[in-house]
Amino acid sequence: MRKQLLGMIFCPVCKAQQFDLSIEQENQVEIRQGTVTCQKCQRAYSVQDGILDMLVNPSQIILNEQTGWTQLEKMVVNTDEVMLSLPDGIGEHKAAWQCQAENFHYIWSQLKLAGNETVLDLGAGRCWATRYFARQGCYAVGLDVLLTRYVGLKTADIYLENEGVYFDRICGDMHQIPLRKNSFDIVFMAATLHHSDDILASLEQVQDALKPGGRLILVNEPVVGMRASKVLNCIEVEHGINEHVYRYMEYRHALRKLK
Ligand SMILES: C[S@@+](CC[C@H](N)C(=O)[O-])C[C@H]1O[C@@H](n2cnc3c(N)ncnc32)[C@H](O)[C@@H]1O
Ligand SMILES: [Zn+2]
Repeated sequence: MRKQLLGMIFCPVCKAQQFDLSIEQENQVEIRQGTVTCQKCQRAYSVQDGILDMLVNPSQIILNEQTGWTQLEKMVVNTDEVMLSLPDGIGEHKAAWQCQAENFHYIWSQLKLAGNETVLDLGAGRCWATRYFARQGCYAVGLDVLLTRYVGLKTADIYLENEGVYFDRICGDMHQIPLRKNSFDIVFMAATLHHSDDILASLEQVQDALKPGGRLILVNEPVVGMRASKVLNCIEVEHGINEHVYRYMEYRHALRKLK
């Protein structure tokens, strides 16, 4: 975590914006261990491995998501090289990532970044996309409920160490985003919104975090047709992950309800 992040967060408990920072370990790149304490309610948020943990009273759904992804992570061989190859993938990972990679490269070609944008990668997971924005010079923040290396935010260290990029990481909930209003030029969500039980609630949080005129980029969200079943039988569901499939109109309705 870098100090700059303190100017963008608010306390999810009392909404205050003033914090005290105590640094226990710092390297040339960032604060690796420490505590951020809300000056108003005194709630303490830990910084571990550079990740600011602002997940407060996680719901059973989030706990299931964390457990499920940790189980799935062990079912394939993950290496630093694989992470550095994302979203394209190498070896046995290539086929699984092909569609996601194609969609990402298309959307990336349309973004036309100036390179000075502030970007929130919401549901960043491993942070492979967060580092794409950082490479362009953007100030990027990856937010997710997962911490573990190879599926969660700790994977970021691989990009920071090998690619010389920097971006911040927050452990947090997309329904309770602890980032101040009007902070981001871009909110990017890859295959994340469908993990919400309440897409409107999450989108309202996104709208708050976006600057006026800011852009929400949604990519790799699964969609089913009007008459297709929404029942999912997939390995993620078997492991308790909060998978949904929404209809295109449900996304549109939620977006239209935003003020
Ligand atoms: C299919 S993965 C996509 C990860 C990443 N964006 C990518 O494209 O590889 C869905 C992500 O949503 C995250 N997620 C699920 N529920 C969440 C929540 N309530 N708040 C924040 N992230 C959440 C998961 O932990 C997971 O990293
Ligand atoms: Zn507080």
